[in-house]
Amino acid sequence: MTDARQGLSGLLDTEAIRKDFPILDRTVHDGKKVVYLDSAATSQKPRQVLDAVNQYYERHNANVHRGVYTIAEEATALYEGARDKVAAFINAPSRNEVIFTKNASESLNLVANMLGWADEPYRVDSDTEIVTTEMEHHSNIVPWQLLSQRTGAKLKWFGITDDGRLDLSDLDEVINEKTKIVTLTLVSNIMGTINPVEKIIRRAQQVGALVCVDASQAAPHMVLDVQALQADFVAFTGHKMVGPTGIGVLWGRQELLEDLPPFLGGGEMIETVSMHSSTYAPAPHKFEAGTPPIAQAVGLGAAVDYLSAIGMENIHRHEEAITAYAVKRLLEVPDLRIIGPATAEDRGATISFTLGDIHPHDVGQVLDELGIAVRVGHHCARPVCLRYGIPATTRASFYLYSTPAEVDALVDGLEHVRNFFG
Ligand code: ALA
Repeated sequence: MTDARQGLSGLLDTEAIRKDFPILDRTVHDGKKVVYLDSAATSQKPRQVLDAVNQYYERHNANVHRGVYTIAEEATALYEGARDKVAAFINAPSRNEVIFTKNASESLNLVANMLGWADEPYRVDSDTEIVTTEMEHHSNIVPWQLLSQRTGAKLKWFGITDDGRLDLSDLDEVINEKTKIVTLTLVSNIMGTINPVEKIIRRAQQVGALVCVDASQAAPHMVLDVQALQADFVAFTGHKMVGPTGIGVLWGRQELLEDLPPFLGGGEMIETVSMHSSTYAPAPHKFEAGTPPIAQAVGLGAAVDYLSAIGMENIHRHEEAITAYAVKRLLEVPDLRIIGPATAEDRGATISFTLGDIHPHDVGQVLDELGIAVRVGHHCARPVCLRYGIPATTRASFYLYSTPAEVDALVDGLEHVRNFFG
């Protein structure tokens, strides 16, 4: 054990936790143990989630909300039960405020399209403004660019400071009486920055703007309480929080979901249909056209159970300890520059960096030969790379199963990369 590792407190019992994740036992490249440091891209899945999905297909598979027979009722109960679990997990006032989508991108596109087709008082037009930030994932930029192009609304954004924080020096100017919606990430997927969303929400409320929060990198890692947050919409995805791919969530305030129009039309989302017109089912079904991702929702329900049993406060504390250790150790590597907050405060467990002038793709490839999995590139947040004048970064991201020994493996791996490239 390195000296720096001694005295780390708040860590989870990763030895026990890792037994739940079969993939963490894998080896690659002739027996090298996988060091998985890409949980910001997708988390690994515990047996409990894999078993729930399997069980669903083996014992309860049927379409939901349609059948009168036993297994169809079981499938409906499991699907709607998953909605209850998610509602409790985020402290939603009502289960009807939880919409299942296929991922966070779809959730954010859904909000943009609800507003895009809305009448007053929600109407977005050329007299209105949409506000986002320079540190968004593309999924929280492109849907708003599309909406802006369609409606003529002006798209504005908060910039980023040199140390990877939002520049809110012009908060009252950027968010003003013309602002219709403010949409921003709670935690940056590329830099790990935790944003002061409360301050931004307070300002948005002053001018009567709606607020949409992308919680994709927050929901897996910290307590997410939508009532305390006071946003109007919150989007996140299942696969980053030990759940399956193919399932996302949009939480929205009930009165908004009642007022706003649907985006996708089809089966399940209607009340009645004639050849002339249709009326819609109440939320959340109004926004869930077609056969939903049933098995995936069931898996997400199991993921919520799994995380809740460990406790989101405990998971967050573990990640704070790992992050503090990782920041400290990474800064010991010569020529390494952290892109984003280079401290452990107000940041999540995702750390991007450059290593001298070695291209991140080369860094990633040499690390892979050692079994170390990191993401390289612009991380679907290209404006951040443009802001810092770099083509790409190497990104290491940690989760509840990450260990200090894996941080050490990364640091040793980076020394190897430096030697490799002379
Ligand atoms: N949004 C995922 C990431 O940041 C894919 O890697």
